[in-house]
Order: sequence, then structure tokens, then C-alpha cells
Amino acid sequence: MSTTPTPTTAPAFSRNNPFRSHLQENRRLNQQGSSKDTRHIVIQLGSSGPTYQCGDSLGVVPRNPESLIREFTEKLGLHDDAVLHETLATSAVLNRVGKKFVKAVAEKATGSAKDNLQAICADEKKLDEYVFDRDVVDVLHDAPGVHLEPSEIPGLLNKIAPRLYSIASSPDHRNGEVHLTVALVEYTSHGRKKQGLASGYLAALAGEVSIPVYVQPTRHFHLPAPDRDIIMVGPGTGIAPFRAFLQHRARHGHTGRNWLFFGDQHAKTDFLYGDEFTASQKAGQLHKLSTAFSRDQADKIYVQHRMEEEGAELWSWLQNGAYFYVCGDAKRMAKDVHAALLQIAARHGGKTPEQAEEWVSVTFAKTEKRYLKDVY
Ligand SMILES: Cc1cc2nc3c(=O)[nH]c(=O)nc-3n(C[C@H](O)[C@H](O)[C@H](O)COP(=O)(O)OP(=O)(O)OC[C@H]3O[C@@H](n4cnc5c(N)ncnc54)[C@H](O)[C@@H]3O)c2cc1C
Ligand SMILES: NC(=O)c1ccc[n+]([C@@H]2O[C@H](COP(=O)([O-])OP(=O)(O)OC[C@H]3O[C@@H](n4cnc5c(N)ncnc54)[C@H](OP(=O)(O)O)[C@@H]3O)[C@@H](O)[C@H]2O)c1
Repeated sequence: MSTTPTPTTAPAFSRNNPFRSHLQENRRLNQQGSSKDTRHIVIQLGSSGPTYQCGDSLGVVPRNPESLIREFTEKLGLHDDAVLHETLATSAVLNRVGKKFVKAVAEKATGSAKDNLQAICADEKKLDEYVFDRDVVDVLHDAPGVHLEPSEIPGLLNKIAPRLYSIASSPDHRNGEVHLTVALVEYTSHGRKKQGLASGYLAALAGEVSIPVYVQPTRHFHLPAPDRDIIMVGPGTGIAPFRAFLQHRARHGHTGRNWLFFGDQHAKTDFLYGDEFTASQKAGQLHKLSTAFSRDQADKIYVQHRMEEEGAELWSWLQNGAYFYVCGDAKRMAKDVHAALLQIAARHGGKTPEQAEEWVSVTFAKTEKRYLKDVY
């Protein structure tokens, strides 16, 4: 009797079935004196983890910090409940608060605390303002002694969702590794220091820890043919995929030229991977590097200002078939970079504002697919 071998397929890692990776390195990229804390995180995927390509993102499934879980459960008198502690660690958002939790606390509060919280809950605008910069501990502070049943707590809190980070390494740069560039979100409100859930989790990683991750493949943010020129605009953490692109192009001998626009607050403290880019330039792998350090002078200088200064050359690269990539802040930077592209098409391409809009948004972006964004 012959047996048919069972086909084996690679395990599909996903947000619901993440791979248990390991921390290899966690280093601050900003120098002393910087107001920012941006981390270079190296994660070991080994030979059994997910694989990725330049342009992909890594999904990270975070956990709450022990200190915040303890602060929360102590306020509720539930610090001995180990099951609740673990449930909160992995599934409930604690660093921000939703309306459902505030309403439940208002219901169970007593005395003037109840009156105050119920007045807030009755007014949608006030409630929006109340939850904007509070976490769960801030709410309990406003309702001292409130009692909640352990079994009802997880249902009152938002569920933890994974966060995506643009991959900052080429897969064959160092086999089995994936690199990230993570800006730690940190602020103080209502007298307490707050951190972003996932960026705080990643920034605090140390030693032998397991990190649940999966790869989120990009649909469009790919490198072009090896002989094509690329222009990359990546201020702040927007630099991440371009470090990967440059590693890949250098390793595989791509002949297209590479032009990088980078910006951050100060040249001295915030030139993320500055040494690497300077070395790439010397090696002839990075053909042009344009930097915009916003706070090194009285007036702000941003990447789009550098684009406009170099408009004639940028336009000639685009006319020559270059691809144009933007990564980083979606709310302001990417919009301003788009506006700068329109300016350049008008001034150096001799187009009217309408023609510039048509060329950038339709011909360049949609028909030729040479204008690619990874913005968040
Ligand atoms: C495709 C993609 C790629 C990305 N790549 C990167 C990357 O390479 N590097 C990177 O660092 N990030 C990247 N991000 C962003 C990342 O996914 C997270 O959103 C980011 O790290 C913040 O998540 P967090 O869990 O740390 O913060 P959260 O816990 O989600 O908290 C952030 C929230 O805190 C609130 N907040 C922040 N500051 C204040 C304040 N002063 N007062 C009141 N409230 C405040 C805001 O509501 C903000 O939305 C990417 C996102 C996407 C979608
Ligand atoms: N909603 C917001 O307020 C906001 C804005 C930006 C970033 N973020 C988030 O903050 C986190 C950390 O950001 P990051 O470290 O990647 O860098 P970043 O905060 O985006 O800053 C990088 C550089 O971009 C500059 N910049 C600010 N506004 C700009 C604009 N309109 N056009 C071009 N450049 C601009 C900054 O200058 P200055 O800081 O000197 O102005 C800085 O020099 C990210 O998660 C990002 O999404 C939030």
C-alpha cells in the first residue's frame, strides 16, 4: 500500500496567529539632548519565522506594561487576581479609555464623583473631551473606591489591536532579522506620564523576550526595475523603508540612481542612520542626499522646502522616469510634499495648476504608478 505524502505548507502567520520572535537589539537612534526617542529595534525571525520583502510592514501584537496593569488593579482592589492581570496584559487597552468604561464607572460611583461623571456622560461633547487624553487610571482617580467585578472589566475596555511598522531592513541584509524604526509616543496628561501602547512596549523590550509578530505585505510600495532612478522622501520614522530600499539596491547592484530626502529636528541629535547614509553616499550607492533639519535655525525647514529648492533637478529626474516615494506622517507632511510636487510640475514643467494636478494625481500616480506612498 502506498501512502501519499501530506503536502506541507509554510505556517501562515497573521494577527491572530503571530510568530513568536525574539529581540536582538533595542538602541536609541537619537543622541543625548534630543527631545525625541526613536528606537532601532532588531527582531530575530530565525529560519522558521515569516519572510518579507522591501516595502512590507511588520505587525506587532503589544502587551500592556506591568506598572500600568498594577496601578489599575490596585485602584480597584483587584491586584491579587492573576487571571485578570494576564487578561488585561494581552487584550485590553489601558493607556486610553473608551466611553463605555467611563459610563460604567459613572454608574457605580458614589457621591459627588457620581454626579460629576454622570454630568459628563450626559453631554457628548464633554465626554469626547474627557476621554481624549485620559487613561483608565485617570478615570478611577475621579471615582475613588469604585467597585467593578473582575469578570465585567475586559468587556468594558477596548480590545488591543496590533500596530504596523514599516520594515527598515532588506531581507538579505542579515538573514533572519527584521529591523524597525520606532518613535516612542510619550506625553503627560492629568499629572501622569503616558506612553503609546505598542511603541512603549517595543521601546521597553530588553533581554530574552518573545515578541508576537506577523508580516503585512505591501500591495504597492515596491522597488521598480533595477535600472530606474528613485526619489525617496522620508522624514522622521518615514526613513524606515528607504533604509531597506538602499540596502537592497546596493546588495543587488541596481544601477538606477537613488536620491533621499530626510528631515528631523536637529542634525546633531536626530539624523537617524546618518552614519549609514553618509557611508552609502561615499560608496556611490546613494547619489543624492538632501536633508532638512527643522529646528537648527529660526525658520522651519522641511523636506518639501528642499524639494522646491532642487525643483529643476527633481523635475529632470521625474522626466527621466524616476519613481517618487513618500513615507511617514500622513496628516501634514505627505500633504505638503504633494503640494510641493504640484509646484514643481507647474514651475519646471511649465504646467498650469490644473495641468499640474492632472499630471501628478492621474498620469504620474495612477497611469504610470510612479508616485507611491506609505503614510500613516
Ligand atoms: C503602514 C504603517 C506603517 C507604520 N510605520 C511606522 C514606523 O515605521 N515607525 C513608527 O514609529 N510608527 C509607524 N507607524 C505608526 C504605528 O503603527 C503606531 O501607530 C505608532 O507607533 C503609535 O502606536 P502606539 O500603540 O505606540 O500608540 P497608541 O497607544 O495608539 O497611542 C497613540 C495615540 O495617543 C494619543 N496621543 C498621542 N500624543 C498625545 C498627547 N500629547 N495628548 C493626548 N493624546 C495623545 C493620540 O490619540 C494617538 O493617536 C506605522 C503605521 C502604519 C499604518
Ligand atoms: N498628529 C501629529 O501631530 C503628528 C505629526 C507628525 C508626526 N506624528 C506622529 O509622531 C510620531 C513620530 O513622528 P516621527 O518621529 O516619525 O517624525 P515627525 O514628528 O513626523 O517629524 C519629522 C520631521 O518632520 C517635520 N515636520 C513637521 N511637520 C511637517 C510638515 N508639515 N511637512 C514636512 N515635515 C514636517 C518635523 O519638524 P518639527 O517637529 O520641527 O515641526 C521633523 O523635523 C509618528 O507616529 C507620527 O505619525 C504625529
